[in-house]
Amino acid sequence: MTAHEIQTVCFVGSGTMGCYNSLIAALAGYQVVLYDVSAQNLAATDLKYSQLAEPMLAAGTISKHDFTMAMQRVKLSGDATTALGSADLVSESVFEQRELKRKVLKEIEDHCQAHCIITTNTSALLVSELDSALKDGCRFAALHSYLGIALMDIVGGPRCEPKTLQTLKRYVKSLHCQPLLLKKEYPGYLLNALLGSFFTSAILLAANGEDTIEEIDRAWLAYSGGAIGPFGLMDYIGINVIYDSWADEKTEVHEQVISKRVTAYLKPFMERGELGISTGKGFYSYPKACWQAPEFMKNKDIPKRLYQTLSTAIMQRAILVYDAGVAEREMIDQTWVNGVSLAKGPFAMFNEWGVREFDVLSKATQADISLFSEEQMNAIQGCIALGEYL
Ligand SMILES: NC(=O)c1ccc[n+]([C@@H]2O[C@H](COP(=O)([O-])OP(=O)(O)OC[C@H]3O[C@@H](n4cnc5c(N)ncnc54)[C@H](O)[C@@H]3O)[C@@H](O)[C@H]2O)c1
Repeated sequence: MTAHEIQTVCFVGSGTMGCYNSLIAALAGYQVVLYDVSAQNLAATDLKYSQLAEPMLAAGTISKHDFTMAMQRVKLSGDATTALGSADLVSESVFEQRELKRKVLKEIEDHCQAHCIITTNTSALLVSELDSALKDGCRFAALHSYLGIALMDIVGGPRCEPKTLQTLKRYVKSLHCQPLLLKKEYPGYLLNALLGSFFTSAILLAANGEDTIEEIDRAWLAYSGGAIGPFGLMDYIGINVIYDSWADEKTEVHEQVISKRVTAYLKPFMERGELGISTGKGFYSYPKACWQAPEFMKNKDIPKRLYQTLSTAIMQRAILVYDAGVAEREMIDQTWVNGVSLAKGPFAMFNEWGVREFDVLSKATQADISLFSEEQMNAIQGCIALGEYL
């Protein structure tokens, strides 16, 4: 069932996410317009739609008939006036560049109807950095999706009205996705914030030189019950994506130190063009990475401390996110559970470990560079001292 206030959705940018989000919307019954300034990219969308639908067809979550019907609801357009003029909701997914996004959002506002809700799918920018590009921010929010994961973050812009957020929540539910309505903006929203600490912690361990990527992934697989380790997952996401997130100029001294270490570790992969699954080689070689073979786990002495280090990083980030007033513990836990298909979220893990074990491990499991600044570590300690989490 569709959200009754929304009939037509315009997706701006026909890249990976524009195609993915428009496919999901068309499958849910919405009329969809996919707009792009690049005629070449628009011409390539048939193939993209088929590739995106493949896993859903293989899993049986949609039928061929559903896909055919959905494609009949999609119109391609290279003309802003016609593309945006009929939309009740617009989702912007152009390149991740602040000034380009601001320009495109202004263009959207100039062409769309007065009641239209405008959203950005930005992963790395904050909704507050984009809001002032619009004259009227009362219907502007971030609506951030994940490729292949049924979660969507919603963060209202500084001037966004509550009823806009409620409409977006209904829209996300109608797509059979879980809406994660955050109380305030946070870099990386929820899932990427947690994943970011997980990945950085894994890279810092490997960069130390004492533990190999295989040992780190093996420890995660052995003790977390997860289906993929951090390096396997980074290969899936793309080493370039992780590299780029650390290559930007960092203002905090602590982040500059981590950025130097992480980018130095990843640079050889970037230079060799070994970016992960997409290039056939990254941390592992594909199509079948060695971690996917049964022998990977057999007869190995697997140190628990590596799993504890990674878990501690995720729990520490979860505490910082909660302490910043972004989301409740239940939502943070649910995000992690649904986002990475694990049985427990960071706060559930924390409760299982207990304060004493967490405290000992969070001090003992730091690599030579701490993942968090002294100020952040003090905030975490302060929260724990209040005994809020048990
Ligand atoms: N790729 C992911 O997994 C992912 C996940 C969540 C969010 N995002 C975010 O979604 C956005 C898009 O990412 P992507 O991976 O789909 O990018 P992409 O590079 O695949 O596609 C971007 C598209 O935007 C189009 N474009 C550029 N300028 C335009 C303009 N002025 N008007 C209309 N179209 C224009 C380009 O022609 C291109 O087709 C980014 O903000 C990214 O951070 C990406």
